[in-house]
Amino acid sequence: MSMITRKAFLKLAMGAGITVPLSSLAIASCSKLGSRSRTSAIVVPPFQVPLPIPPILQPIRTDDNTDYYEMTQKESQVEILPGLRTPIWGYNGLFPGPTIAVRSGRQVVVRHRNELPVPVVVHLHGGKTPPESDGYPTDLILPADPSHAATAHTGHTTVGGIGQGFKDYTYPNEQPSATLWYHDHRDMFTGAQVYRGLVGFYLIHDAIEDELPLPKGDKDIPLMITDHIFNEDGSFFYPSLDPMLHEEGLEDGYHEGVQGDTILVNGAPFPFLKVSNTRYRFRFLNASNRRIYKLALDPSSSEGTAFIQIGSDGGLLPAPVPQTELIIAPAERFDVVIDFSRYAIGTQIVLKNLDGNGTTSQVMRFDVVRSQSDDSTIPDRLLPDAESLNPTEAEVTRRVILTRAGKRFRINGKEFDPDRVEIRPRLNSTEIWEVFADIPHPFHLHLAHFQVLSRNNQAPAPTDVGWKDTVRVGPREMVRIIARFTPYRGKYIYHCHMLEHEDLGMMDNFEVI
Ligand code: C2O
Ligand code: CU
Ligand code: CU
Repeated sequence: MSMITRKAFLKLAMGAGITVPLSSLAIASCSKLGSRSRTSAIVVPPFQVPLPIPPILQPIRTDDNTDYYEMTQKESQVEILPGLRTPIWGYNGLFPGPTIAVRSGRQVVVRHRNELPVPVVVHLHGGKTPPESDGYPTDLILPADPSHAATAHTGHTTVGGIGQGFKDYTYPNEQPSATLWYHDHRDMFTGAQVYRGLVGFYLIHDAIEDELPLPKGDKDIPLMITDHIFNEDGSFFYPSLDPMLHEEGLEDGYHEGVQGDTILVNGAPFPFLKVSNTRYRFRFLNASNRRIYKLALDPSSSEGTAFIQIGSDGGLLPAPVPQTELIIAPAERFDVVIDFSRYAIGTQIVLKNLDGNGTTSQVMRFDVVRSQSDDSTIPDRLLPDAESLNPTEAEVTRRVILTRAGKRFRINGKEFDPDRVEIRPRLNSTEIWEVFADIPHPFHLHLAHFQVLSRNNQAPAPTDVGWKDTVRVGPREMVRIIARFTPYRGKYIYHCHMLEHEDLGMMDNFEVI
């Protein structure tokens, strides 16, 4: 992937009328110096633990047009490393939280009760959600326990208001089948609270997906990848200055983001999955705070490509796309089929991370243990009518410049301020956004799904296909996207999805008018 030169980057950035502090670019080019990372006190041997699958949550009640769910966010102790207990914060005390599986077009209401000692916010990532239910970072749910609620800083402007102990989120699900996820979004504490376990899958299904002959049932598996650091007693290490999470701030050396050396898939360290020699559908989600993975299979098979990509963040692709490697940045999803019939029974296939080193160079293992007949296929076309947004119809072109500034992060030279709205797209309009980055920043828009038009004025990467809500912008890259601002008016955010960058200022508002 070509990078734009430092000079060209500055020229483009300056042309946007925005001052990029030179010092921030200088720091960026030697950023390794400012970065440190603790290693886990416990080293777990890989491939000892079977892959867990998060349970599907059942609605507590349904009526003609709505399914009602309830969840309680609470502390619990779970066994992640064999023989040790890890305190987590989880939805219903689970990490990952329970999966919510819904039908496209059917409304869902989720009541979230907060039994944690801190305020929380819930965001449905990838959801087309009305603003009051989108999880604006200051729309806190205060702890149900009043002694904890008193410690919360409130008084910021909100979009959907403050919840006293609980909040109901309404999701219309007026969008096609896709792999979404829900996670914490508390202003300035998202990194710490997601890392402690506040994350889960939310799958939307529809009739188009039902009718495709893709692998289904127990051969359709969500895979949430995270990386953690473990203390000696099995607890998670996270460098918050205030472990109670009342005051913001990180220990020195972690401002660029927190990376762990122990890779968890669905909450288990380097797990294995026994598979038959058939096709499987895997929905990869990178739920890591900062780490970008380059996934590949080892051994790769002599026939065919490792991954057949069938879906992106926003749902099914028009047609399948073969991929040898998947570069997956925080918050991105890749929906793929792996065909294990290409391997002999007895083969053990490691899912590698080609960008890792040491323990982080492997993720999990697939063990082909039995033969089975397979009636699934991957059709040549997946979606009957696939839409490509037309750049000539875009109403506005904007430039969004993501830069590090010392221990803080900025968008177009400014840090997040809930009271400042400078971007006002018209409802149902499309806009082109040119996103520049000094160091890698995965760029995420709430509400508006988009397509990638170019990278550094060249063709997008093969993995940029389809509707997306998050796109990786590499060091000194410029990624041009076209987004449609639909279907709700109101105030939303966009931000870098490296959670420490987001917490340290790299977030901004837009209001659909
Ligand atoms: Cu997944 Cu605003 O985030
Ligand atoms: Cu989001
Ligand atoms: Cu960033």
